[in-house]
Amino acid sequence: MVQAARAVLEGAWDPARGYCYPNRHTYPHLWLWDSCFHAIAWAAVGDGRCLTELDAVFAGQFADGFVPHMRYARPTIRRGPLEHASSFTQPPVYAHAAGCAAEAGFTPATGLVASIRAGLEWLWQHRLREGLLVVVHPWETGADDSPRWDSWVGSSHWERERWTAFDRALVEATAYHPNGAAASSCLFTAAPAAFNALAADAAAAYGRLAEDPHWERRAADLAAAIDERLWNDETGLWDDLAVVGGGASVSVPTLDGALPALVTADEERAQRVLARLADRGEFLAPFGLRYVPASHPAYEAGQYWRGSSWMPLNYVALRAAHRWGDAALAEYLAAAAGGAALASGFAEHWDPETGAPLGAVPQTWTALAAAFYSTSGTSSTSRSLT
Ligand code: GLC
Repeated sequence: MVQAARAVLEGAWDPARGYCYPNRHTYPHLWLWDSCFHAIAWAAVGDGRCLTELDAVFAGQFADGFVPHMRYARPTIRRGPLEHASSFTQPPVYAHAAGCAAEAGFTPATGLVASIRAGLEWLWQHRLREGLLVVVHPWETGADDSPRWDSWVGSSHWERERWTAFDRALVEATAYHPNGAAASSCLFTAAPAAFNALAADAAAAYGRLAEDPHWERRAADLAAAIDERLWNDETGLWDDLAVVGGGASVSVPTLDGALPALVTADEERAQRVLARLADRGEFLAPFGLRYVPASHPAYEAGQYWRGSSWMPLNYVALRAAHRWGDAALAEYLAAAAGGAALASGFAEHWDPETGAPLGAVPQTWTALAAAFYSTSGTSSTSRSLT
């Protein structure tokens, strides 16, 4: 696995730019959270390019700390008013990635640590509303076409033309800061469970990395706000919160609604969510986790962000399983999603029932499978998945 993952990373690496393309043909630019996942994969295969790739993420950082979700490597459709970069952001996975690099023996330089802090500070300064972080475009969550956005789109199924028109309309509806960073939207604002969970995880990771209790407190406060404002006791998952527009779709069960298990202090909720992930009639499939549970009418095994399996989400869920000592789930996910990575040729995403490749092949972030074999954690469980 490590050898195969390394080959994928090497194949996507651009030495002049210092990062991997998610896919050379389909995604020939830098994407924020992709590069963070690439950095984690580089660290897992024991390669110092984990730090080079994180430096590339911050090479596009604005003077005020904002980190764009894309940095264009060539002319392309603009995501906002700027010529060189997107005006939107993506989940701040960079702090956890820097922690993985440090654990693998590649110590982040002081400058990189300062950039991470500035990136997080920007989010807390500009996007905190009543204790939760908000996004102003689905792109900012990375789960671009999730059924959780259906109320905004006004449709309960996915159609390319309609979603593309929606995405473009949201770019038009965004108000931008003078430096080009997205500030607010009159059509779409949400406080998503997953974005907030990844941000709380980032704050905690930064707190550990810089030994800064202030950020550990921010992490705990954000995790508490997620529990207080987003938990849905009926579905047994965390909802998103619709701030501008939106409606009932914020409660559609998706893996995003399970990710706060990574940061919650509430063990009972976390165990309830993990049991749901481990349920074969729900999230657990032969080839990893379904993005939408099989029992839900919106589930489509072969459709982009509507049910297929994604390596980054399998990886985060596996970390949550480790956190709560669920070794059986962690081992199952490592084998199932790792097996899917190999079977699909490291596809962007795959059919969770068959492992059939979907989207771009190979997609660099699927090399994260190498990290399954270096993720540490406790191992005690009462559940058997065999
Ligand atoms: C798609 C995905 C997004 C990812 C990008 C590049 O837009 O939805 O999460 O960052 O592709 O891989």
